[in-house]
Amino acid sequence: MTKNVPAKTVGRLSLYRRLLRRLDARENPHIFSHALADLAGVSAAQVRRDLMTVGCGGSPARGYGVNELIDELSAFLDAPEAQNVVLIGVGNLGRALLAYFPARRPRARIVAAFDTDAQKAGRVILGCRCHAVSEMEEVIRREGVSAAIIAVPAAHAQDVAETAVRAGVRGLLNFAPVPLRVPAHIYTEDIDISTSLDKVMYFARAGFGADDVRND
Ligand code: NAI
Repeated sequence: MTKNVPAKTVGRLSLYRRLLRRLDARENPHIFSHALADLAGVSAAQVRRDLMTVGCGGSPARGYGVNELIDELSAFLDAPEAQNVVLIGVGNLGRALLAYFPARRPRARIVAAFDTDAQKAGRVILGCRCHAVSEMEEVIRREGVSAAIIAVPAAHAQDVAETAVRAGVRGLLNFAPVPLRVPAHIYTEDIDISTSLDKVMYFARAGFGADDVRND
């Protein structure tokens, strides 16, 4: 596995794959870096640099083969086998995630969920077994879980993150609106919808034009 690829690069590579999958490869068997760059909203040089990182080189005359590129990006982004993931917190958001992910992300297999609510623990919810939180460490270890999705109220997010990490989880997708304090080797991605909405509302009011404002 390629190490030390920056998180932003990995995010862009995932975006490129999503965009390429939307193209009809029969109609567009090849794509130039500038065309992919237009779709992704980045520069062509950025696309070429990112694709070089994972060893994808295009032909100057024809660009990149769309299907070949999707395969190469998948070889980089995906584990050879499905990775086991758990969901912590089966409330409104947790249920939506359970309904959304399994069909669309077969390689991220949500093997268990956890909730403090006694009405939920012990039940199968949207096809996923929900356990009591006291069972979390044992289930994570037994199932070889590598990542956890946190969808609990903010006040409980740190606690459940620590439990998951103690059991061996190394990646956290955190929907709770609170930063997590975890060891440096744990990769955390925060999905903070409130901040995103604040940004959208701010720029809707203030106006947004220059491309370079976006990431400053
Ligand atoms: P919710 O109140 O519907 O669900 C929270 C669930 O977590 C409940 O089932 C509760 O029993 C469980 N829970 C509480 N403490 C727990 C613990 N220590 N361990 C395991 N489970 C525990 O809340 P909702 O709406 O699903 O939101 C969950 C989190 O996601 C919150 O932090 C919220 O701010 C955030 N969020 C919610 C969004 C939404 O659209 N509902 C959008 C973005 C973020």
